[in-house]
Amino acid sequence: MPLSIDFTYMMSPPVANGISQNDFAAARNDLDAAVARVAERRKSGQLGFLDLADDPALLRSCQALALDYSRDTEDVVILGIGGSALGTIALRTALLAPLWNLLDVRARQYKPRLHVLDNVDPRTVAAVLKLVNPARALFVVISKSGSTAETMAQYLIVRAHVDSVLGSEASKRFVFITDPSKGALRAAAQSQGIAALEVPSNVGGRFSVFSPVGLFPAIMCGIDATALLRGASAMKSRCDLNVALEKNPAAMYAMLQWLCDVRQGAHVHVYMPYSDALRDVADWFVQLWAESLGKIRPDGKSVGPTPLAAVGATDQHSQVQLFMEGPLDKTVTFIAEMSREMDQPIPSTVAGMDELSYLGGHSLGELLDAERRATAGALAARGRPSMTIELPVVDAYHLGELIMLMEIATVIAGELYGVEPLDQPGVELGKQFTYALMGKPGSGKDLATWESLPRPDPARRV
Ligand code: PA5
Repeated sequence: MPLSIDFTYMMSPPVANGISQNDFAAARNDLDAAVARVAERRKSGQLGFLDLADDPALLRSCQALALDYSRDTEDVVILGIGGSALGTIALRTALLAPLWNLLDVRARQYKPRLHVLDNVDPRTVAAVLKLVNPARALFVVISKSGSTAETMAQYLIVRAHVDSVLGSEASKRFVFITDPSKGALRAAAQSQGIAALEVPSNVGGRFSVFSPVGLFPAIMCGIDATALLRGASAMKSRCDLNVALEKNPAAMYAMLQWLCDVRQGAHVHVYMPYSDALRDVADWFVQLWAESLGKIRPDGKSVGPTPLAAVGATDQHSQVQLFMEGPLDKTVTFIAEMSREMDQPIPSTVAGMDELSYLGGHSLGELLDAERRATAGALAARGRPSMTIELPVVDAYHLGELIMLMEIATVIAGELYGVEPLDQPGVELGKQFTYALMGKPGSGKDLATWESLPRPDPARRV
């Protein structure tokens, strides 16, 4: 059964701050134009992520390399950040057994542990290096550009450590995943004979989960990458740009979120799985939606929603108070697991606690579902819009569907907001200042700009 979206509570009626029928009808022209522009971009080869779902050669290259390392790898360590890390974290949490890295090797079915650095915090990097045996670890350096400062710094540290332990054998414990021809990593792979996989040149970081960026670590750890891609491919067909809005979940998602933002002032887009397995999909979505849509339009106006990750039921005891009574500026996307591979019955009675008897005979899964439905209903009763993405079950196929759905929705939303969803010009200035502060050659002008900025004022320190 395929994933589906219930958007009843995005509309008004029944939800006071939802989208009116008039706005919905009027926006169809905008949507048609947006979808037509996306189709043009696809034709001209700009949306390479769409082809990843049906690229057997890329999948085979990952499978073949994984086979080479499968026997002697106890730990896979991903060096990368942002779009080169978040997809793998999401796949790990959703599709590997809970607490994967704590399980013994039998419980992991002889597959490796999976560590993803995703930062340059020295404590984490040191802790991972202390934990793993370089001779039985595989360090996978992932950078599309092959030049990201954080990833390169991770590599310099890890490489020095592995060199010091393994000497001339060190190169064998590295795999690079990068652009087919550009960047320092590709050059180093060639000159040092390091195994390397390709991120197609027309696929950017946050859209790269279905490339070797996500597939290789997934295959190493035993995730069914073929099913993941089948789900992605099925969703791509459902969102084919010729399909009518009513049957196209990505177009519908993009249009409803955009309309709620620009017509109803719902600028904050909460993404809230009721599932621990999907909690890191929410973080992955936050990066996708934020980095793709928060932009300056060609007419100079700053636009874009603010995505916010939440997890049910945990956040019912944290952020939901804000969602219920705070500013009327949010939509909530609930993600529901419609069935579970395992559930936990709640015992009927505990002596002396009769007031808990209503829980007995149910299961934790039922409680979680009841809480999700109750929260959606409570928001609706307060006039606050939400929608629910229903995943028949959390498995590789349906996660593939969900990820592809969000990626296509993002490029359609980019057109609706009037911005380029594939770039991230806003992060450049901070990068240039970092280079200047770190003394990168050629950063003199940026250092001068940095030094011309207002200095901290001692009178404004408490
Ligand atoms: O989504 C993106 O494009 C970014 O978040 C990148 O993934 C991130 O900046 C890392 O870039 P790279 O893969 O080139 O090292």
